Amino acid sequence: MIPHKKVFNEALSSMKSIKIGDLKIALPIIQGGMGIGVSLSGLAAAVANEGGVGTISAVAPGFREPDFLTNFREANMRALRNEIRKARELSKGVLAVNIMVALTNFADMVHTAIKEKIDIIISGAGLALNLPEYRPAGSKTKLVPIVSTDRALNVIIRKWLKGYECLPDAVVLESSYSGGHQGIKMEDVGKEEFNLDQQLPKVLALLEGYEKEYNQKIPVFVAGGVQTGADIRKYIQMGAAGAQIGTRFITTNECDAAQEFKEEYLKAKSPDDIVVIQSPVGLPLRVLKTKFVKEIMAGEKKPIACYFKCLHTCDYHKASFCIARALVNAQSGLVDEGVCCSGVNGYLNNEITSVHELIEKIKQEYSEDSSSV
Ligand SMILES: Cc1cc2nc3c(=O)[nH]c(=O)nc-3n(C[C@H](O)[C@H](O)[C@H](O)COP(=O)(O)O)c2cc1C
Ligand code: SF4
Repeated sequence: MIPHKKVFNEALSSMKSIKIGDLKIALPIIQGGMGIGVSLSGLAAAVANEGGVGTISAVAPGFREPDFLTNFREANMRALRNEIRKARELSKGVLAVNIMVALTNFADMVHTAIKEKIDIIISGAGLALNLPEYRPAGSKTKLVPIVSTDRALNVIIRKWLKGYECLPDAVVLESSYSGGHQGIKMEDVGKEEFNLDQQLPKVLALLEGYEKEYNQKIPVFVAGGVQTGADIRKYIQMGAAGAQIGTRFITTNECDAAQEFKEEYLKAKSPDDIVVIQSPVGLPLRVLKTKFVKEIMAGEKKPIACYFKCLHTCDYHKASFCIARALVNAQSGLVDEGVCCSGVNGYLNNEITSVHELIEKIKQEYSEDSSSV
C-alpha cells in the first residue's frame, strides 16, 4: 500500500540514524575532511558531539610542528596521533580521518590512524585501491572510499574483493561541485553525467548486486554542493544514507583555521567568486577567487621550494605554485597569498556560527522541506 502523504512526510520529517557495520551514526552527516589544518580535532569533535561523523584531515597535520621541514614523516605521524587523541578527549562520538591517496606519506597516515583505533578512514583524490592492505585482522576501523562515478567504484570493489576479500564499509559519492580536488578531468567538471542526480542511481544499482551477493549493507553518502537540509533530504529520498558536507562547516567557531580564512568565505557573494583551476596535484581544484588565485589564473608563476615532496603527482619543476604552501598560508590567515578550497555553494555561507547552531539549522531545513512534499 502506498503510504498516505501525511504519514510519508512524518517518516521523513527528521534525519534518521544509520549504521556503518556495527558503528551507529546518530545523524547521517559526515563532515568532510579539509586540509591543510581546516578540519583537525576542534571541528571533528564538535561535529561528532552533534551525532555526525567528525573528520580530521591527514594532509600535512604536522605543519605546526617545529620539525615539520626537517622531519616531515615523524612530524606528521606525531601530529595526527595527537589530533586523534585530542578529538577523543573532546568527544565520545564517531571520528574519521581523511587520507588522500595522492599523499607520499599515505601509508604512514593510514598506519597511524588504524593504530589509534580511528572509527573510519575516508580516502579519495585518487582510487584507494590498496587501502585494505593496511588494516590488520581484528581491526574495527571502517574503510570508506570516495568516488566520482559508479565505474570508479566498481574498479575499487573488484580490487578489494580479489586482493583482500572485503567490500567498502560505506561509500562517499562526490560530484564535481565539491570544494577542493575533483576526481575527474578538467573538461568533465560540471558535466551532467557526473552529477549526483545521474550518478547516485547508478552507484545504488551497482551496490545492490554486491549487497545481495555478500549480504552486507553499504551506505552511500553524497557530497559536493550539498549545502542545505533540503539537499540532504532530496538525496535520502533517492536512496542515499546521508551526506558529506565540507564548505558549510568552514564558517563555524570550531573550524580549526584562522578567522581571516573563515571571513574570506563570507566575502564571496556570487557563484562567480568561486572558480576551478588546475592544481599541481594534477586534478582540477575548486577554490575561492582570492588575490593569489587571480594571479595564478593570469599566468603568474609563484616561487617553489619543495622541501618534502608531499604529493606523488606534483611535478614541482612544472607546477606554477606549491599547493601545500598556499593551503598553509590560507589556513593561517594569509589569504591573499593562499588558496581557499570551496564547494560551488560556498558563496551561500553568510555567517560564522557554532557547529551546534549550524546542525540545528540543517535539521530545520530538512524537516521544513518535508512539509512541501
Ligand atoms: C577547504 C577544503 C579542504 C578540503 N580538503 C580535502 C582533503 O584534504 N581531502 C579530501 O578528500 N577532500 C577534501 N575536501 C573535500 C571535502 O572533504 C568534501 O568532500 C567537500 O567539501 C564536499 O563538498 P562541499 O564543499 O560542496 O560540501 C576539502 C574541501 C574543502 C572545502
Ligand atoms: S611543490 Fe608539490 S610536492 Fe612539493 S611541497 Fe609543494 S605541493 Fe608538495
